[in-house]
Amino acid sequence: MIKFHYILLLFMVSISKEIHAHIGGEMRSFTIDYDHDKFLMNGKPFRFISGSFHYFRALPGSWRHILRSMRAAGLNAVMTYIEWSTHEPKEGEYKWDGIANIEQFIRIAEEEDLFVILRPGPYICAERDMGGFPYWLLTKHPNVKLRTYDSDYLKEVETWYGALMPRIETHLFGKGGPVIMVSIENEYGSFSACDSKYLLFLKNLTESYVQDYAVLFTNDGPDQLRCGRIPGVLATLDFGSTSNSDRHWQMLRKNQPKGPLVNTEFYPGWLTHWMEPMTRVAVGPVADTLRAMLAKGANVNFYMFFGGTNFAFTAGANDGGPGKFNTDITSYDYDAPLDESGDPTPKYHALRSVILEYIENPGLPVPEKLPKMILPPIQLNKYGTLLSNEARQLLGLCIHYNERTLGFEALNQHSGLVLYEANIPSGMNRDPMALSVTNLRDRAYVHVDNKFIGVLSRENAIYSLPITIGIGNRLQLFVENQGRINYNIANDFKGILGSVTLDGNEVLNWTMTGFPLDDYSLLQNYVNQYSRYDTESTRHTSIQIFHGTFVITTDKIYDTYINPSGWGKGLIFINGFNLGRYWPLVGPQVTLYLPRHILVQGNNTIIIVEYQKYMQEDSVITFSKEPRFDGP
Ligand SMILES: *[C@@H]1O[C@H](CO)[C@@H](O)[C@H](O)[C@H]1NC(C)=O
Repeated sequence: MIKFHYILLLFMVSISKEIHAHIGGEMRSFTIDYDHDKFLMNGKPFRFISGSFHYFRALPGSWRHILRSMRAAGLNAVMTYIEWSTHEPKEGEYKWDGIANIEQFIRIAEEEDLFVILRPGPYICAERDMGGFPYWLLTKHPNVKLRTYDSDYLKEVETWYGALMPRIETHLFGKGGPVIMVSIENEYGSFSACDSKYLLFLKNLTESYVQDYAVLFTNDGPDQLRCGRIPGVLATLDFGSTSNSDRHWQMLRKNQPKGPLVNTEFYPGWLTHWMEPMTRVAVGPVADTLRAMLAKGANVNFYMFFGGTNFAFTAGANDGGPGKFNTDITSYDYDAPLDESGDPTPKYHALRSVILEYIENPGLPVPEKLPKMILPPIQLNKYGTLLSNEARQLLGLCIHYNERTLGFEALNQHSGLVLYEANIPSGMNRDPMALSVTNLRDRAYVHVDNKFIGVLSRENAIYSLPITIGIGNRLQLFVENQGRINYNIANDFKGILGSVTLDGNEVLNWTMTGFPLDDYSLLQNYVNQYSRYDTESTRHTSIQIFHGTFVITTDKIYDTYINPSGWGKGLIFINGFNLGRYWPLVGPQVTLYLPRHILVQGNNTIIIVEYQKYMQEDSVITFSKEPRFDGP
């Protein structure tokens, strides 16, 4: 009897499970089978081979093509960070459309037969300005301790997740969507704070939204698990090509004896800084390591499978140790299997054939390179300089007076330039005198009485230059933010944070004018209203504005590369879209990727803000069909 009841009970339980499973179709679950070292999707063993593609690094018009090319390589998932600063560039002003349309990205991935793995950070590194944090955190809380159990920081993260997570929840696997996993933090084990209470807070917060509708995970270097992992959360590893991946898995096993093996960041390429040769990663060892991992049953995500571009002011910088500061180039090509324009490379084909040894061929056609076009050279006209009265009136914002210099964040400015001006006090009559700036972040274009006399640079640790007062008495420093540090993150305030001295005497009483250059309508308005009235007085200044138009006669519009060879350093806007920083003087990146989606049949406009090289009236810029990463 007892036995019979027991069997009946089991029978009823299994019936009710069946019924539950069939409400609205199949029961969906994505879970971990620790005993068998596997993921389970709807109860069946599942393995992902995924690729990183950050939606905020490609225009939405190209998302589907890139995702389909990923699927065609055999990948069954796409991984992306979610970038806080993309979605909340100013406090409380959320952006969810265009390149910030994360939900659309998830939907397209699903349509292209890919699962989605989300990494909301909120710290993402990713070689992005401030590691993806919005700059205004430093305006609002100058003493904030990012990535720790600091109440100001936690409050802001809670508010941000409160805005973000409800948009994500409906896309979780258990709720019918493609999102199978959501990460907590990002390589936290490599961060010196090692604040386990903060990690627990973030786990609780993430879990309160994700619940068991998707799997939570952390990711760390193989020897960084002590501070990186969270008990009860799947720990995964980040590592690149190696002749012995087992050595890394053993380190994981010491901390997590059972569970699926995951390499969250397997590097088929690598990042590049300005003034370095372009990083190239040979495919042979990448393919060998991949094969070894897949043969072992591991789950792998390529970081990056498609890199894309750091448009506008989104590129970050690395703190290379005491006194070393290296800024990331605009391209995030990354020497990835799909290049910056989304085209397959030889690496793509080599890795695809390894992947297809282990995953059923999805049967999609192998993608081919998209056509590229070249446009005739454009002649540009000079529209004066940022030091002119017109530019100050039309482009300069938030003019502040203060005894000492204030930083970008104190002025509530994300990026661009801040002009610091002060009169050289009388009585300073040595000739020349040593101008010195302490805590300069990052690069100062020094002028005296509207005459450009040189550059100071955090990157090159040059903080002093001789000036001769014989030429005037107004000291003017245009300071450029070259991107906030993204790794080893600290509060990387920008501007002049220390003092400015002449032969050791501090210069006081500053006028600060912000040029954020992030509102194109101001630039357009400036160009429209420009008159050549005060050009003569600012002939010798550095920061100059150029404007031109060009006509595209065909409706067959393809990607191209704009080639600022011969120019110095600055920004290029096409039809109001900021393509990012160019700097062919140092390279290695020479050309800027110009996506087809921002060009139109008919009239197109170009505005260049050249920061330092004196360019003639009627200077020309050219195009090229191929990117150039071998400059100067
Ligand atoms: C996380 O949640 C657990 C369980 O609800 C709770 O005991 C713990 O205090 C929380 N930790 C933090 C840091 O919020």
